[in-house]
Amino acid sequence: MKGKQIGAGRTAEVREYGEGTIVKLYLEDFPAEPIRQEFKVSTYVYNQGGVSTPRPVGQVEAEGRSGIVFQQIHGRSLLSLISGQPWRLPVYARQLAALHHQLHQLEGSPEIGRHKELLERQIVAAPMLTMEEKTAVLEHLRPLPEGNRLCHGDFHPDNVLIDAEGAWIIDWMNGTSGNPAADAARSILLFSMGSMPPGSSLAARVVTGFIRQKLTKIYIREYLSLSGYSYTEIKAWILPVAAARLTEGVPAGEKENLAKEIRRRLSALRKHQISPGVHDK
Ligand SMILES: Nc1ncnc2c1ncn2[C@@H]1O[C@H](COP(=O)(O)OP(=O)(O)OP(=O)(O)O)[C@@H](O)[C@H]1O
Ligand SMILES: [Mg+2]
Repeated sequence: MKGKQIGAGRTAEVREYGEGTIVKLYLEDFPAEPIRQEFKVSTYVYNQGGVSTPRPVGQVEAEGRSGIVFQQIHGRSLLSLISGQPWRLPVYARQLAALHHQLHQLEGSPEIGRHKELLERQIVAAPMLTMEEKTAVLEHLRPLPEGNRLCHGDFHPDNVLIDAEGAWIIDWMNGTSGNPAADAARSILLFSMGSMPPGSSLAARVVTGFIRQKLTKIYIREYLSLSGYSYTEIKAWILPVAAARLTEGVPAGEKENLAKEIRRRLSALRKHQISPGVHDK
């Protein structure tokens, strides 16, 4: 079953598999639940229509590993397009924001899980934070509006493939039903702090510093203008999504930066509570 490898990430490798299909093969011993979730959410999104996503064909076992077979897309990721043509970044960043807004028009369903409940579980399980810090993050999360729209949960330029037909959204393992503002906050966190998976192409790794800052700025401007959200509504979710990200298999350096950012935001909140007249910028 040795098909040609066409992609690899932190959780899986992707290989050609049959006519017009690929298999996403998860690492050995990867837990079954998130794989079921990816199949469930991909199928939910595919059946809803409204955004393009590769057709999920079925779940398989191969070489002692679990996999999902999907329709093959012959395209390039937005990340590789950005790194190949950085001068076109404004166009790609606006396209990314428009796609995100488009998927947020779709309804979620409790059947795919509720985003706030997932965040709560992840914050409770987060390493590096004290009990007091976790409690403060959970208290901040509690009053935030739950929402019932489709959320991708990991929306970044490597999870969008572009071909002659248009844009395809992949990698729905973290998909839930929730508040689009929370999903946008997660993307902003990824653009500004997320590290590239080990083994990413050189092209992907040059997308750093200046390009990330510009991507973040243009994405925010475009997403706010399309969605009608204020930045304050989105910013409120950065703290809980940052704490939840600590549970993911991200490099130690990124976790340190996340923990610092979380503490900075918690202390800004505390100051704000003590003197409500003072607004953080
Ligand atoms: N349906 C598809 N058709 C063609 N190529 C695909 C398809 N699905 C995935 N790929 C390729 O494989 C790469 C990895 O796929 P995907 O993003 O689903 O997994 P991952 O990155 O390992 O997941 P995670 O982000 O959870 O670590 C993609 O960036 C893309 O290049
Ligand atoms: Mg991916």
